[in-house]
Amino acid sequence: MSEQQEVLLRVENLCQYFGPTKAVDNVSFDIKKGEVFGLVGESGCGKTTTGRSIIKIYDITSGSIYFKGQRICAGTKSYRDAIKEAKKEKRTCKDDKRIAELNEIIADNQAEIKKAKFDHKHSDHEYAKRLVAETKEKYAKKLEQATSETETKALQKEMKDALRVAKKTKLITKIQMIFQDPIASLDPRMTVREIISEGLVINGIKDKEYIDKRVYEMLELVGLVREHAGRYPHEFSGGQRQRIGIARSVVMEPELLIADEPISALDVSIQAQVINLLNELRERLGLTILFIAHDLSVVKYFSGRIGVMYYGNMVELAETEELFAHPMHPYTRSLLSAIPLPDPRTEKQRVRIIYNPLASHDYSVDKPSMREILPGHFVRCNDAEEQQYKKELGL
Ligand SMILES: Nc1ncnc2c1ncn2[C@@H]1O[C@H](COP(=O)(O)OP(=O)(O)OP(=O)(O)O)[C@@H](O)[C@H]1O
Ligand SMILES: [Mg+2]
Repeated sequence: MSEQQEVLLRVENLCQYFGPTKAVDNVSFDIKKGEVFGLVGESGCGKTTTGRSIIKIYDITSGSIYFKGQRICAGTKSYRDAIKEAKKEKRTCKDDKRIAELNEIIADNQAEIKKAKFDHKHSDHEYAKRLVAETKEKYAKKLEQATSETETKALQKEMKDALRVAKKTKLITKIQMIFQDPIASLDPRMTVREIISEGLVINGIKDKEYIDKRVYEMLELVGLVREHAGRYPHEFSGGQRQRIGIARSVVMEPELLIADEPISALDVSIQAQVINLLNELRERLGLTILFIAHDLSVVKYFSGRIGVMYYGNMVELAETEELFAHPMHPYTRSLLSAIPLPDPRTEKQRVRIIYNPLASHDYSVDKPSMREILPGHFVRCNDAEEQQYKKELGL
C-alpha cells in the first residue's frame, strides 16, 4: 500500500440502533489519509449518528471502527445473534458432528465478544503501547548506528522525550468533530479562551503561558484575533462561532476532522468562507476530513469521494466525478436532480426526480447488498438491479 493510499479510518458493518430505530444499519466505508470524504443524505438518514459513533459517543450496536489500524469501537450484537442462532439449532440437533460445529461457533463468538469489549475499552492504552514499542524499535536501530558518545547521548535524550509523548498519546483525541449547531455546541458561560483550551486542560496541560500561546495561534489560524479570547460565544456571529468550534477541534492536533454540516446553519455569504477555511486547514495541517452535508452541491467541489446514505443505509459510494457522471441508485439520482443548474435555459428544463423506495425496488425475494459496479463505485442493489445498471453502462 502506498503512502497516499494509507487508510486512516475504516468503518466496518457499523450498526447503531436506538431501540427499534436503526439509525445506522450495516454501513461500511473507509477514509484514506489526506482525503475529504463527503457523507450525504436527507435529514434523519443517520449522518450525525455515524459521526458520533466514530468519536465513541455511543457503545455501538454492532460492527467495528478502526483508526490508524487500531480498533477503537466494536459492537457485539452480530456475535450475540450468531450465538443465539447456534444455540437454537443445537436444541433440536441430533447430529454429533454438527453439535460439535455449533459448539465451536458459540465459543468463537464468545471470544469475539470478549475481544470487542476489550478493544472498545482499551483502544487508547493499546495504541500508546504500540507507539512505545515502535519508538523503542526506531531508536534501537539509530543507537546501534551511532558513531560517537555525544551522538548516543543526544539520541538517548531524544528517545526519552519521544517515549514520554508516546505514553501519553490518547488516540481518540486525534479525531475531532465540529458540530452541526454552532450555537448549541459552545457553552455560553465559558470564554473563548476556556472553550478552545478545554481539551488541552483535560489532557493535563497546566502551563498557562503555553495554553495562551496555543489559543492565540488557533484564533489567528481560523481568522479571528487574540482580543477575542476573553469574550463569550453570544458576542459572535454564526460564522465566527463556527470558527471558534473549528479552533477548539484543531487545537487538539487531530488527524481526522469530522465536520457535521458545518455550514448549513450559516448564511449563504458566510458558507464559502468556512469551506475555504476548512480547505486551507486541510492543506496546512494535513488533515483528513469526513464532511457531512444534506445535499450534493456542497460536497461536490470539496470531496474526493462521496457516500450517499438513505434511512440508515449507505446506498452509493464513488469518487466524486464518477458519482456525478454515472449516478446509479435512484436516490442519488433524485439528489442530483435537486441541484439547480447554472444555465437558466437548462435550469428551466430541470426535472426533479422524486425517490419512492417502494416503487423503485422489489426486495421481497432478491435482496440488496453493496456491490461494485464500476471500479471503486459501489451501489446498494440486488441481482436484477445490478444487471440493469451494468446494461445501462454497456458492460
Ligand atoms: N440519541 C438518540 N436516541 C434516539 N434516536 C436517535 C438518537 N439520535 C438520533 N436518533 C434517530 O436516529 C435517526 C438518525 O439521526 P441522525 O441525527 O443521525 O440523522 P442526520 O442524518 O444527522 O439528520 P440531520 O440531517 O437532520 O442532521 C433519526 O431517526 C433520529 O431520530
Ligand atoms: Mg445530523
